[in-house]
Amino acid sequence: MQATDQLDGILPVCLKSSSRDGKVISEASYEEIAGLVSEGQIVILKSAFESGIMLEYRAALRRWAQDNATFPHGTSPSAFPDLNFHRIDDGVIKSVCPHVFHQFAFNTIEELDEYIGKPSLEIAESMRSLQNRIAGTDFPLSLTGLRLKILHYPSGGGFLAEHSHPLEPQRIGLILSLSRIGMDVRTGATCFLTPSGPVDTTDSHDIGDIIIFRYDLPHRVTTIDEDTTLDWNSDAGKWSVVLELRETHALSHRGQPHSAS
Ligand SMILES: [Fe+2]
Repeated sequence: MQATDQLDGILPVCLKSSSRDGKVISEASYEEIAGLVSEGQIVILKSAFESGIMLEYRAALRRWAQDNATFPHGTSPSAFPDLNFHRIDDGVIKSVCPHVFHQFAFNTIEELDEYIGKPSLEIAESMRSLQNRIAGTDFPLSLTGLRLKILHYPSGGGFLAEHSHPLEPQRIGLILSLSRIGMDVRTGATCFLTPSGPVDTTDSHDIGDIIIFRYDLPHRVTTIDEDTTLDWNSDAGKWSVVLELRETHALSHRGQPHSAS
């Protein structure tokens, strides 16, 4: 369970994990994980979800994106707090926190068709439970609480610039991967600056794994598979599932830390 020094940084703490009855459990207790995360270590719950379920979810997301028009640029989605939407951010429109990704924001999961709503709710509820147990919080999935976001960083240029979030009130961030190392994504990953040094999860954040990090640690997504031509119709690249509080998101609009992961 101890992080180990390596030449170019610090290794994350990887814990064997699984899902049972809608709960993610691991070889460490929630209290032990909370202790590691509050020290500033990066914890990865390995195989928290089965890879087959993750790939099915990705296919459902792609189907949903084909069935629903993209949210237009030039209008703030914040004006539609209960909307489920997706949008391709290709980097042309400048952002406080530069990025290239296809984002899905599910504000009202119960309004989604079953093929996408059912897995979205199961994943979001498992992550919400984990978030609350480890951070000692009590956030619901709701219009004033947490919402589910999925970020697809395409091969050939997907990235997110370094940023950090306020520690309170969310305290921790969770990032679930829907991508297979070496198959969907070869280079590029979520990287952190921790009190002990930089942590790069390129070799450790595989499909079904959940990264847990202290929310105020600077982090970024390095460019995904730079040697590939970007194709928004391809599902190659890095897929991240996160939970976020709208109040954190609102801060990003004031030039404060950005809300994506
Ligand atoms: Fe983030």
